[in-house]
Amino acid sequence: MAVSDISHRKRFLANGNVYLPHIATIEKIIEETPTVRTFHFNFKDEKLKKEFTFEAGQFGELSVFGIGETTLCVSSSPTRSDYLECAINRVGKVTNALHRLGVGAEIGFRGPYGNSFPLDFLQGKNLVFAGGGIGLAPLRSLIWNVLDNRDKYEKVDIIYGARSPADLCFKYDLDEWEKNKTVNMVTTVDKGDESWTGKVGFVPAVLGEVAPSAKNAVAIVCGPPVMIRFTFPVLEKLGFTPEQMITTLEKRMKCGIGKCGRCNIGNLYVCRDGPVFTYAQIKGFVSSEY
Ligand code: FES
Repeated sequence: MAVSDISHRKRFLANGNVYLPHIATIEKIIEETPTVRTFHFNFKDEKLKKEFTFEAGQFGELSVFGIGETTLCVSSSPTRSDYLECAINRVGKVTNALHRLGVGAEIGFRGPYGNSFPLDFLQGKNLVFAGGGIGLAPLRSLIWNVLDNRDKYEKVDIIYGARSPADLCFKYDLDEWEKNKTVNMVTTVDKGDESWTGKVGFVPAVLGEVAPSAKNAVAIVCGPPVMIRFTFPVLEKLGFTPEQMITTLEKRMKCGIGKCGRCNIGNLYVCRDGPVFTYAQIKGFVSSEY
């Protein structure tokens, strides 16, 4: 299976211009961690609001007018498509400007871009999600997509971790997945605090303890580069082949459409060939470039 074979989805162009964003209004802001907020927004144009579609794993360029654009994966699920959500970590000029905006403010969105998680390939399989920190954002889109069509998939394991309890994103979803009897949810932190009674340990190590079977399974991994790098060998030890491991990458993206040449990893453009890749596709680059 080549994830990049998945055809790139329909683009919704503003006035036929690939660089012109659609105007959207922020409807809700959720404080995830001290530096991460989820922005829940919708398009102003009623027709676009109705017609816009995307697939789990795709990304967009979000803009703050007068400041610039930043690349963000969509963290909401296509199965709940009457809005869009992106989780934004406050790390640079644009993301800081986004964090200063409130409900009712207007932002720009262009996309969706890139390929998506291969739902057809995942159907009928046991799914193992391994996420770290804000890397849960693209997985969340797929997890809700899977849970909203639960009978199409077999066992679901979710192993999610963050540096500390305060750094766990989407806590309201973690609670729901914990309660869901069809999901094996394991939440862990690198370092607990006085209130933390849960698991302590790095995601790759906890994944090794959970030891999901590789039989008829696919692992979907997203998190900080170091987590991804240490998770693949654990999965290999458990018997997962590189074709059974999927990840989604974010790398210096700017145009989002294969024009600026900033997002290459080896001979691949993350925006055009990804952002979703099997480990088989990126194995040669993971230790050196990612
Ligand atoms: S973001 Fe411009 S080529 Fe990929």
